[in-house]
Amino acid sequence: DWTTGSVIDEQVAAIREQVGDRRAICGLSGGVDSAVAAALVQKAIGSQLTCVYVDHGLMRKGETEQVEKDFVAATGVQLKVVDAEERFLTALKGVSDPEQKRKIIGREFIRVFEQAQAEIIADEGPAVEFLVQGTLYPDVVESGGGTGTANIKSHHNVGGLPEDLEFQLIEPLRKLFKDEVRMVGQELGLPDEIVQRQPFPGPGLGIRIVGEVTKERLDLLREADAIAREELTAAGLDRDIWQCPVVLLADVRSVGVQGDGRTYGHPIVLRPVSSEDAMTADWSRLPYDVLAKISTRITNEVRDVNRVVLDVTSKPPGTIEWE
Ligand code: XMP
Repeated sequence: DWTTGSVIDEQVAAIREQVGDRRAICGLSGGVDSAVAAALVQKAIGSQLTCVYVDHGLMRKGETEQVEKDFVAATGVQLKVVDAEERFLTALKGVSDPEQKRKIIGREFIRVFEQAQAEIIADEGPAVEFLVQGTLYPDVVESGGGTGTANIKSHHNVGGLPEDLEFQLIEPLRKLFKDEVRMVGQELGLPDEIVQRQPFPGPGLGIRIVGEVTKERLDLLREADAIAREELTAAGLDRDIWQCPVVLLADVRSVGVQGDGRTYGHPIVLRPVSSEDAMTADWSRLPYDVLAKISTRITNEVRDVNRVVLDVTSKPPGTIEWE
């Protein structure tokens, strides 16, 4: 019979057995799966684990601090944070095409992560043999059930490391579904903001700016997104909504009247959806007064935004994200 307590005990014992006195690395994304996987491994092997968090500058307001402060406080994990904002912004300069953005963000992410890994190995020696992954049961089924090793090419060779590093994988969530992962995370004492987090795409706000990604636009979108999230939470709607992308139409301008006169600013799109699995979705029928509050606050508080619009398209035909 299944209890979160027995799952944790079983996994802790298995991880200790697997790792012995060697060392492991885990990448944190800010999402539920990697956080719970890391917390479990931390419980099993403590300071033999080092976590890496790549800050690509495309996170929402407060999310990086959540990992840096709250996650570390809850788990006591050893964390290496890489501030790579400038690198990502430079790589994204002049790029508007969504798939191109994804490719660039994915590529830079791997490079930064590998560099961090190489630095950790250079510091701690060759005993770093394991890579923790937050693979869930549905991922296992989808990929045909295979397990094994990750072959990681080291582009940034530090101190005479082998060209190809072989890591064995630790996947403590392989038998679990999402709701079970949340229960395990809760039992491990992780904060609600991490355990109950709605899905958020890896490329982050980079694919929520229609147009070129710049620091200025990111800051603007971060403000609008924070207001929308704050009001949805205050209205008690977090559990009803699957996720609510907030999108900046940076290449579109519209006329408004604000303060002393005419403005020529950008629209913000709200895209609240309900869904079971993100394969299909419907637009959420949010209460008008909540929408009104969000709209008023965004247009009052966010510079250069003079219009808030609501996306009322289901998926299909519209995807959840705009890019
Ligand atoms: P769409 O927009 O395709 O999104 O309806 C379905 C789900 O996937 C998320 N999404 C992504 N997640 N990298 C990710 O890790 C991506 O490039 C990406 N694109 C979309 C989206 O937020 C939704 O939950």
